[in-house]
Amino acid sequence: MSDQIRFTLNETDLPKYWYNVLADSPIPPAPVLHPATFEPVTPDFLLVLFPMALILQEVSTERYIEIPEAVREIYKLYRPTPLVRARRLEQALDTPAHIYFKNESVSPSGSHKPNTAIAQAFYNKTAGTKALTTETGAGQWGSALALACNFFGLDLEVYMVRVSYDQKPYRRIMMETYGAQVYASPTERTGFGRSVLAQDPKSPGSLGIAISEAVEVAATSGGAKKYSLGSVLNHVLMHQTVIGEEALKQMDLAGEYPDVVIGCVGGGSNFAGIAYPFLRQNLKDGQRARLLAVEPTAAPSLTRGVYAFDYGDTAKMAPIVKMHTLGHSFVPPSIHAGGLRYHGMAPSLSALCNAGYIDAIAVPQVATFEAAVTFARAEGILPAPESAHAVRVAIDEALDAKAKGEKRVILFNLSGHGHFDLAAYQAYLHGQLEDYVYPAQAVQEAMKELPQVEMAAI
Ligand SMILES: Cc1ncc(COP(=O)(O)O)c(C=O)c1O
Repeated sequence: MSDQIRFTLNETDLPKYWYNVLADSPIPPAPVLHPATFEPVTPDFLLVLFPMALILQEVSTERYIEIPEAVREIYKLYRPTPLVRARRLEQALDTPAHIYFKNESVSPSGSHKPNTAIAQAFYNKTAGTKALTTETGAGQWGSALALACNFFGLDLEVYMVRVSYDQKPYRRIMMETYGAQVYASPTERTGFGRSVLAQDPKSPGSLGIAISEAVEVAATSGGAKKYSLGSVLNHVLMHQTVIGEEALKQMDLAGEYPDVVIGCVGGGSNFAGIAYPFLRQNLKDGQRARLLAVEPTAAPSLTRGVYAFDYGDTAKMAPIVKMHTLGHSFVPPSIHAGGLRYHGMAPSLSALCNAGYIDAIAVPQVATFEAAVTFARAEGILPAPESAHAVRVAIDEALDAKAKGEKRVILFNLSGHGHFDLAAYQAYLHGQLEDYVYPAQAVQEAMKELPQVEMAAI
């Protein structure tokens, strides 16, 4: 085998289709329910928030959906992204394992998020939308949508979770540079934000609260604004599959096939992006890659949450979906992986995980940063704290292979860089980071607030 490190594709290899896992998933999707009536949602309800093209993608069971040329043109600014063999990390760990990572941090805003932001902005523009609203946790999603809205001439309002707004002022400036307006959520701008602040003027916010604010603004705009979500929904996960489709070709160039595919999970989109094309190969092509989703012990929806119908947001305005959830009232501890602090998980991923097609594991914050520093010192790239969860588990897999004397091929998605997360790195380097395990008791309490729809929907 050669000593090649980077496996790159040409622009002409850029995928022409997104892969829709619903075509192959052995588990039929549960209905999406109206938050007030508990009846299956109608396109009319969704049309208040999304353009028709995205609603059709959300419910489509077509296996492949063509990527519009205008979207592919913008993808070309950073795609195909490199696949890298982390040889220096392998040497540092002295492992017989081969470690590969797909480097999504090379996008202009620094993560995988533009893969769907560009598509969503395109479909909104085509439908005549003038402005979008959204939430952002770590700021990665907000930056990506700000970038995309700028390219398509759309206005954008971003509701940024208060704790991230304070921890990451430079993300806000990046969004503003692209032309977006950014507000620390909870805000005084929405009825729901005001109600949260009335109860807790120092609320650190949560993704659930920020989603409620962004949805409220769009839903009460009389059609002037639509809403855009950076994860969880089927169409968002589907837009991310360009990652896995490219990775399949690149692993081929490397002459190997992964034994395990790893990605961190917040709402599930970057994991699905790399893993679903490999799942297709498992289901249809006789491959046997293990698919491993990694979440923080502080927000463990897959490993500790309950698989049930729940609201997508805290104010109960977003649709009810069947997913792994910690309860829609979940206000997570202020860990540094802001993008992984959501209470729920993408329905398709929840279902596949529940049925055993995908494995999940939770890792604590300090060990995650330890892995990030090991990776940075070996490979030179500072991972985003979210991505560092995948790095932790990739390293653990490599060490396990070493202990067992096995050659193992490991592929993980480096979903973003951590250049705006240096305060978190500083806290780690100064020994100021703490671990947090979300208590099982809190999950049980939150379950009392789940919508009682189980019987109605089955
Ligand atoms: C760098 C990075 N990776 C991963 C995630 C998690 O989101 P998702 O599970 O949708 O990929 C985020 C979310 O903001 C992120 O910023």
